[in-house]
Amino acid sequence: MAIYLITGGAGFIGSNIARELLKRGEEVRVLDNFSTGRRENLIGFSDYQHFQLIEGDLRDTETVKKAVKGVEFVLHQGALPSVPRSIQDPVTTNDVNVNGTLNILEASREYGVKRVVFASSSSVYGNNETMPKVETMPVAPLSPYALTKYAGERYCQIYYTIYGLETVCLRYFNVFGPNQDPGSQYSAVIPKFISLMKNGRQPAIYGDGTQSRDFTYISNNIEANILACHRENVAGEVFNIACGKRYTLNDLVGLLNELGQTSLEPIYLETRSGDVKHSLADIAKATSMLGFKVITGFREGLELMV
Ligand SMILES: NC(=O)c1ccc[n+]([C@@H]2O[C@H](COP(=O)([O-])OP(=O)(O)OC[C@H]3O[C@@H](n4cnc5c(N)ncnc54)[C@H](O)[C@@H]3O)[C@@H](O)[C@H]2O)c1
Repeated sequence: MAIYLITGGAGFIGSNIARELLKRGEEVRVLDNFSTGRRENLIGFSDYQHFQLIEGDLRDTETVKKAVKGVEFVLHQGALPSVPRSIQDPVTTNDVNVNGTLNILEASREYGVKRVVFASSSSVYGNNETMPKVETMPVAPLSPYALTKYAGERYCQIYYTIYGLETVCLRYFNVFGPNQDPGSQYSAVIPKFISLMKNGRQPAIYGDGTQSRDFTYISNNIEANILACHRENVAGEVFNIACGKRYTLNDLVGLLNELGQTSLEPIYLETRSGDVKHSLADIAKATSMLGFKVITGFREGLELMV
C-alpha cells in the first residue's frame, strides 16, 4: 500500500483518481479548497479507513507542507482550470496554477516524495497547425491558463534536472466523465451539452462546430496517472494522454442526439478568443514509454456518461 496525495481531489479528475486508488486499497490524502471542486464528489470516501481530507489552499506554504509530509506520490491535479476564466482573471489563475505548483514541488523536494505527477494540458500546443500534436513540437500557449500549465511543466522538469525530484507531466486532452460539473459558466462542453440536451434544450457552439477535440474518457486518465507513478525511466518526461482520435463539436451533438433519441440543432455563436481550432494527440510516446493504452473510447465513454 502506498500513500498518495491528490491535490484538487474534490474536483472532477482528482476525485475519480482518488476513488479508484481507494478501491485498490491505497492510502489517499486529498488537498482541496473547494473553489471549483465539490463536496458531493467525495461522497463515500470517509467509509475508507485510509482516506484523509485536508481542506486548504495550494497557495499556502504551510498547508501544502502539511499535505505533502509523509506521502510517496503526489498527483497534482489542483488548479484553476478553464481558458475563459484565466482570460477574465489571469492573476488568480497564475497564482494558483504556478505558485501553487511551485509550493507542491518545493514541499515534495523537502520531504523526499518519490514522484510528482503533474496535470498539464493540450492547450500548451496552441494553434500550431501540425496534427497530431507530438510532445517534441514547439509549444505556443494562447491563453493565461495554457501558459500556467506550460510553466508548471517547466518547473517540474527543472526540479527533476536540478534537484533530482522525479516528476512526470501528463498533457490531458479534453477529459470527460462522472463528477464533472455541468452547471458553471466555465463547464466543459460534454457535461454541459448532456445536461442541456436531456432537458430538451439546444446546445450553444462557439464558431461553426467544425472545431475538433480528442475527447478522452476519465478512465484513461486514471490509468495514466497510476502508470506515471510506477513506471521506470519516465522521470522528467512529458506525455500526451488522449485517445488519438478527434471529433468535431457537430459530431458530438450528433452522437448525443443519437444516444438521447433527440434531434436538437445547435445554436452557433461567435468564436471565443483563446480557443484552439483543432486538437488531436499523438499517443505513441505514452504507449511505448508509459505502457499507456486506451481503455475506453469516445463513443463508449459518452454512452457511460449519458
Ligand atoms: N478536464 C479537462 O479536460 C482537463 C484538460 C487538461 C488539463 N486539465 C487539468 O487537470 C486538472 C484537474 O482538472 P478538472 O477538470 O478536474 O478541474 P476541477 O476544477 O474539477 O478540479 C480542480 C480542483 O482543484 C481545486 N483547487 C483549485 N484551486 C485550488 C487551490 N488554490 N487550493 C486547493 N485546491 C484548489 C478545486 O477546488 C478543484 O477541486 C487541472 O490541473 C486541469 O488544469 C483538465
